[in-house]
Amino acid sequence: MQEARGDAPRACVIGAGSSGITAVKALADRGIPFDCFEKSDRVGGNWAFQNSNGMSSSYSTLHINTSRERMEYADMPMPASYPDFPRHDQIARYFDSYVDHFGLRERITFERGVEHVSRTRDGDFVVRLDDGRRLRYDAVLVANGHHWDPRWPEPPIPGSFDGEIMHSHSYKDPSQLAGKRVVVVGMGNSAMDIAVDASYHAASTSIVARRGVHVVPKYILGQPLDAGVRPTRLPFRWMLRGLEPVLRLTVGPMERYGLPRPDHHLGQTHPTVSSRILDRLAHGAIAVRPEIAELAGDRVRYADGTEDLADLVVYCTGYKISFPFFDEDFFSVQDNELVLYKRIFPVDRPGLYFIGFVQPWGAIMPIAEVQSRIVADHLLGEYALPTRERMEADIERMLRRQRRRYLASKRHTIQVDFSNHMVELADESRAGAARAAERAFAPPITSPRGDSAIAGEQPEDVPTAA
Ligand SMILES: Cc1cc2nc3c(=O)[nH]c(=O)nc-3n(C[C@H](O)[C@H](O)[C@H](O)COP(=O)(O)OP(=O)(O)OC[C@H]3O[C@@H](n4cnc5c(N)ncnc54)[C@H](O)[C@@H]3O)c2cc1C
Ligand SMILES: NC(=O)c1ccc[n+]([C@@H]2O[C@H](COP(=O)([O-])OP(=O)(O)OC[C@H]3O[C@@H](n4cnc5c(N)ncnc54)[C@H](OP(=O)(O)O)[C@@H]3O)[C@@H](O)[C@H]2O)c1
Repeated sequence: MQEARGDAPRACVIGAGSSGITAVKALADRGIPFDCFEKSDRVGGNWAFQNSNGMSSSYSTLHINTSRERMEYADMPMPASYPDFPRHDQIARYFDSYVDHFGLRERITFERGVEHVSRTRDGDFVVRLDDGRRLRYDAVLVANGHHWDPRWPEPPIPGSFDGEIMHSHSYKDPSQLAGKRVVVVGMGNSAMDIAVDASYHAASTSIVARRGVHVVPKYILGQPLDAGVRPTRLPFRWMLRGLEPVLRLTVGPMERYGLPRPDHHLGQTHPTVSSRILDRLAHGAIAVRPEIAELAGDRVRYADGTEDLADLVVYCTGYKISFPFFDEDFFSVQDNELVLYKRIFPVDRPGLYFIGFVQPWGAIMPIAEVQSRIVADHLLGEYALPTRERMEADIERMLRRQRRRYLASKRHTIQVDFSNHMVELADESRAGAARAAERAFAPPITSPRGDSAIAGEQPEDVPTAA
């Protein structure tokens, strides 16, 4: 770790989950002065079960579904004693040991939320904290996560229900299911885990599959499913094309388990990973239902006219990308459409960076680690962005690729293929270094701020961060 450099821009990191802590490390490594504010009393975000911030979506039975070798940061492996798919508390311990190993804990301000971020007339950021302080920064790294703000069914399901309704975000432990007639809505990973838990603890369990998915077991041919997901230029979809027949041979058609036949190829949706759901379906412990038509008092009525008497409906209908600390007219996201150059840089908001806003076939952490290094290089003038026109053209290409690759859905707006995206970031890092060399390594903060210098706070009112 370097001594803080007086000539470097001052940065603020929002959040110390797995994305924020690797951002903190990248800034500390390069001597960039920063503050990191974390709402919670600990690091780890989603992985800190029963996190005091109320934002964690973890539950007591949660294990990772990306294997530990895929999920670990490049500069600190997970302990070899860990299983391939550790439990949430082991993952939280790993993030704890990461900050302690690199001496980052004292660089993070805990139990301090960022309430508002705006810009001064001269283009600096003003960060207002939940203790009322306002501090000025040259740059803001947003790492507040994207799996904490529940997305409820849209449009809402008609009718009224006498029982209990919850979102998977509020699911913490199988005791919440015990003895109840449970309807689990969705076919993503939350739905798989909660339906499996319910199948052991509830009086009855139904799962609502409005669309068939390819359920992928955690091991394929004796290897963790993502063992072969390594950085490569070979299009990942080719690998998936090879995987589809393997799954047909080993797992078999989804219809054999009573699930609807998928209307798409493997890889056109975010992966639904579960070995246990197939077992529970095969044992008849979970009933499969089509889309809900209506909630009707003590029962749930489905599109095919069948019904379940129910006590509890758990909506496992995903999450919204939210930035409550930005004003709508400064930065906002509709329907999860977060459009960024290389998934990091908003084209018209220089000085603002997003870390961890990807949803990979693969894990988020190594991507967040590389993103953070690119941002650190950028802040020191060692990585330069291309022209606005080039960024926009690149974003357009990326969106076209994404539309071809994934089913249109609010859950697929920030989807990337881990293996190809890691190569794309490495290429981009080199290209940005070459551009910076051409421009004689000018730090970005001295560059014009374009239309982002919106009228706002008077700079002289706001103290500069230490
Ligand atoms: C149930 C579940 C299981 C998952 N399993 C996997 C998996 O196996 N593999 C994988 O790669 N991904 C998985 N994910 C995706 C998950 O998003 C990542 O694992 C990881 O948590 C992302 O880290 P993050 O730091 O970006 O966000 P988070 O973990 O959400 O951390 C964000 C941090 O920012 C802080 N924060 C938020 N707002 C503010 C504010 N205004 N001021 C200050 N601090 C703030 C929060 O307190 C929190 O500590 C899973 C997600 C869920 C919901
Ligand atoms: N480590 C783990 O094991 C684990 C566990 C849980 C979650 N996660 C991760 O957490 C993230 C979020 O996962 P998630 O499962 O919570 O959300 P998700 O991936 O967004 O899945 C939402 C599911 O709900 C369905 N859905 C949405 N609205 C519906 C409606 N009105 N009626 C019926 N179905 C509806 C979607 O179907 P459509 O596809 O038709 O829209 C989809 O199947 C993912 O990255 C996931 O991998 C990981």
